[in-house]
Amino acid sequence: MLILGIETSCDETSAAVVRDGNVILSNVIATSAKSFEGTGGVIPENAARKQLESIGPVIEKSLSESGASLHDIDLIAVTKGPGLTGSLLVGTTTARALASMTDTDIVGVHHTLGHMFSTHVIDECNEPPVIDYPVLTLSVSGGHTELWIRTAPLTGTLLGSTRDDAAGEAYDKGAALLGLPYPGGPSISSCAQSGNPDAISFPLPLRNEDGFDFSFSGLKTSLRTAVQGNDTISTSDVCASYQRAINAHLLHRTRKAFECHEDIREIHVVGGVSANDDLMNMIRDAFPGTTIRRPHTLSLCTDNAAMICSAGYAEYERNGSRPFFTNPRAKLTEIVGG
Ligand code: KG4
Ligand code: ZN
Repeated sequence: MLILGIETSCDETSAAVVRDGNVILSNVIATSAKSFEGTGGVIPENAARKQLESIGPVIEKSLSESGASLHDIDLIAVTKGPGLTGSLLVGTTTARALASMTDTDIVGVHHTLGHMFSTHVIDECNEPPVIDYPVLTLSVSGGHTELWIRTAPLTGTLLGSTRDDAAGEAYDKGAALLGLPYPGGPSISSCAQSGNPDAISFPLPLRNEDGFDFSFSGLKTSLRTAVQGNDTISTSDVCASYQRAINAHLLHRTRKAFECHEDIREIHVVGGVSANDDLMNMIRDAFPGTTIRRPHTLSLCTDNAAMICSAGYAEYERNGSRPFFTNPRAKLTEIVGG
C-alpha cells in the first residue's frame, strides 16, 4: 500500500511517500525557518504564504523521487492539527482536493501522534524496526512537551505535558534572548559545544512535585537574570548551562515516569528537540539496558510527512477513512485502538 503524506502544521512544508506504513520512498521537506532567523519565532501569516508557494513543488518532488504517480497512491494522510491555522489549511485543502480528484481515501492525523510514529519509519536500505511495548515516549518540540506510555502502536495514555512553554520554545526564546538566530535549539546546541555546562547553576523545575508535568518558563526567567548586567560570562558557557538545565528537567520527569511503570521496554524521544545530542546522551546514560530510540535521521526528528504517513496508515487500518476537521487546537490525551 502506498501512502502520500502531507504535513504543513508550522514552518515546514513536507510531502512523503511511504510503503506499508514504515518504508520511506521519499520524504521532501521545505522550510521557511530561515526567513524567521531574525524575528525570534515564526510569524503565522508569513509561514502560511510560504506554505502556499511550496506545497505544489514539494508534492511533485516527493512523487517523482518515490517513482510513483498520483494514481498509484492508495491513501492520503494529512496533518489535521494542532498547528497554525493558515499553514494547516494549505495542507488539508490540498490533500482534500487531491483525494477527491483521484477518488482516493484520506485520513486526518493528529500532529503529536505523527511524531510518535517517527521512530517507526525507515528508508528502503534498512530493516523496519521491531518495537517492543510498552514504550515510554518523550515527545519534545517547539509546540508541545509530553510524556506518553503506549502498550501498542495505537493504544496509549498521556502521562504529563508542559504547563507553560514547550522545551523547543525554551530553546527558541533563550536563543532570542541571547541574540542567536531562530530556531534556537540548533543555535544553542552548536554554541554550547565549546562551553562549560556547570558554569551557571539553574534550578531544576518542579523538583519536588509529583506527576509528570513540565514547566520551562522559570528557566527562561533564570536565564534572563543570569545574563543581565553580566558582561564577563561567555555565551558558550551560558548556552551549555542552559541546554543542560532544559535537558536535566526532561530527564528528571522521564526518569520519574520510568520508575512508576516497571514494565517499560523502550524509551523513544521524538520531536525537534530529539535532535539534541546532549539530551540523547543524558538519556542513554540514565537508562542502561533499556532500548532508547530517536527517529532514524535528523530530518525525521523535526516536522516531516513520513511520520504522518505512518500514523495515518495505522489509523486507516483500524478505522478506515473518517471525516475530519482541520483543527488548530486539536487535542490528544488518549489513543485507543490496539
Ligand atoms: O518538531 P518540530 O520540528 O516542530 C514542532 O512541532 O514544533 O520542532 C521544532 C523545535 C524548535 O523549537 C527547535 O528549536 C527545536 O525543535 N530543535 C532543537 C534542535 N533542533 C531543533 N532543540 C534542541 N536541539 C536541537 N538540536
Ligand atoms: Zn512537530
